[in-house]
Amino acid sequence: MEQKLKELQAEALQKIEQAEELKALNDIRVAFLGKKGPITEVLRGMGQLSAEERPKMGALANEVREAISEKIETKQKALEAAAVEKQLASETIDITLPGRPVKVGNHHPLTKVIEEIEDLFIGMGYKVAEGPEVEKDYYNFEALNLPKGHPARDMQDSFYITEELLLRTHTSPVQARTMEKHEGKGPVKIICPGKVYRRDNDDATHSHQFMQIEGLVVDENITMGDLKGTLQVFAKKMFGEDREIRLRPSFFPFTEPSVEMDITCKICGGEGCNVCKGTGWIEILGAGMVHPNVLEMAGFDSKKYTGFAFGMGPERIAMLKYGIDDIRHFYTNDIRFLKQFAVTE
Ligand code: PHE
Repeated sequence: MEQKLKELQAEALQKIEQAEELKALNDIRVAFLGKKGPITEVLRGMGQLSAEERPKMGALANEVREAISEKIETKQKALEAAAVEKQLASETIDITLPGRPVKVGNHHPLTKVIEEIEDLFIGMGYKVAEGPEVEKDYYNFEALNLPKGHPARDMQDSFYITEELLLRTHTSPVQARTMEKHEGKGPVKIICPGKVYRRDNDDATHSHQFMQIEGLVVDENITMGDLKGTLQVFAKKMFGEDREIRLRPSFFPFTEPSVEMDITCKICGGEGCNVCKGTGWIEILGAGMVHPNVLEMAGFDSKKYTGFAFGMGPERIAMLKYGIDDIRHFYTNDIRFLKQFAVTE
């Protein structure tokens, strides 16, 4: 019997050693240690043994069982560890693979220029105002000293929606709207960026829809000197300290006197070139002292209050600042154009 038990142990240990899967191992456990297994079978024959030998065989049988269980346990751990290893190996991530670049968008060049201009004026105490793009004839023209039938209305070809409604042709109606809200009390100090529309044929320098930034200051004792100083600060901050400005007499129905502002041409430094058409100066914006009629119509006492206003096209400013030669680039959204204004930090 002893012999038989030893043989069983040797056989079991060998099989365990060879087992390659947890399932096979379990089968071995059931086969050798189970109730119907050979060890139980051997022990059944114990009845025939002498009283002396019985405990010895009992002890031996236990030893064999233990040896087998222990071996199964060690093998089981080894197989489990190997399974984990295998799984890890199959799920390995190759961290040397280069990452895919994340596409980052950037601000449109016009947005950048507008924000830059806004910041500049906010720094001088201005507030940003807004008004509707579908505007009343009254605010777009009449309240700006342009009554119906006024010849100067032809300066701005308009998209009319009804007799009394149109797409605003400039941001100046926001002047009238803002002053009205102030109910005759100064100071008013705003800039207003926004879209405007004119019946122009699109070409390199014209667009039926474009942007404007309006500025308006109304208070007691505002003079043309304040206007000039403000525009000078603006021009130097926007285009560089070396730039000079000049004011030329002009005409707008809503300002009196009216001016146009030029800055010295950056390309030729004032010598005269193609860009400045040989004059050394480039036109930047229209401006002037708010017409007394405009102040009065908006409820301001023109004997007490004066003001200045200016209006500029951010497209033109962006074109000069970045050397862009066609206004249509701003609206066709060619990614190759837009990408050039990405901040790379
Ligand atoms: N609204 C004028 C234009 O579009 C510009 C302007 C604004 C001129 C304010 C004077 C004062 O041409």
